[in-house]
Amino acid sequence: MQRKAAIGVFDSGYGGLTILKEIVDTLHEYDYIYLGDNARAPYGPRSFETVYQYTLECVQWFFNQGCSLVILACNTASAKALRTIQQKDLLKIDATKRVLGVIRPTTEIIGNFSETKHVGILGTTGTIVSDSYPIEISKFFPDVKVFQEACPMWVPLIENNEHLSKGADYFVKKHLDHLMHQSEKIDTVLLACTHYPLLIDKIREYIPVGTTIVSQGEIVANGLKDYLLRHPEMEERCSKEKTVLFFTTDSTADFDKHAAIFFGKKVESKHLDLLAE
Ligand code: DGL
Repeated sequence: MQRKAAIGVFDSGYGGLTILKEIVDTLHEYDYIYLGDNARAPYGPRSFETVYQYTLECVQWFFNQGCSLVILACNTASAKALRTIQQKDLLKIDATKRVLGVIRPTTEIIGNFSETKHVGILGTTGTIVSDSYPIEISKFFPDVKVFQEACPMWVPLIENNEHLSKGADYFVKKHLDHLMHQSEKIDTVLLACTHYPLLIDKIREYIPVGTTIVSQGEIVANGLKDYLLRHPEMEERCSKEKTVLFFTTDSTADFDKHAAIFFGKKVESKHLDLLAE
């Protein structure tokens, strides 16, 4: 019989904590290990090959901890690394393990939020350039028109705790204007980066009144719940002691201070040196 282990949750930095928070609220009986690759964040502007290599190293670390199921709580990693890991690496590493992303559960339902069938996507440059959202949404909602805008300054503003400062307004307004000018009919905007929920108050200030803003936390948590119901063989392999462990590849003091803002609770992390692994 397989050893039971925690569910792994991964992000380039802090953003995935907005997803973990909802997952823990929804599926509180399980154990979780969170890893933020803060030392190498942001992933958004990096090449396909680099994001893939970094993500694979982190996924391999989760597997070394015994995890059977890993969630990439990062759109950039989901867009640039997930498919190759699922189709190529898992076969070589262990075909019974699973890595899931955030794009699939989101694209399965995003069309339901829109009446006009005009949906806007805000994400990192990596996510937007990959075209993952338009491609995946067209499979589930062929009648939905997708408009995209990359917001390369948003993650650095959030990672540097400047997202509530006056200076952030310029970049929030600039990218929302670019998006909304693409079509007057956009009635739903997806925050397709797990960092962006921290900017939601500023986004509300600069988006036309009545626009539905969709964050992914609840969607991903419900998607995971559904996945575990449909896959009892995987559910069996997930341990249930209600623990949450946090790891960062950078300074734990910085992580703990900052992570509490994203997770909404006190966080005590351990340092992970990937080079020493
Ligand atoms: N939170 C990540 C995402 O959802 C992006 C952060 C980064 O650029 O590293 O795409």
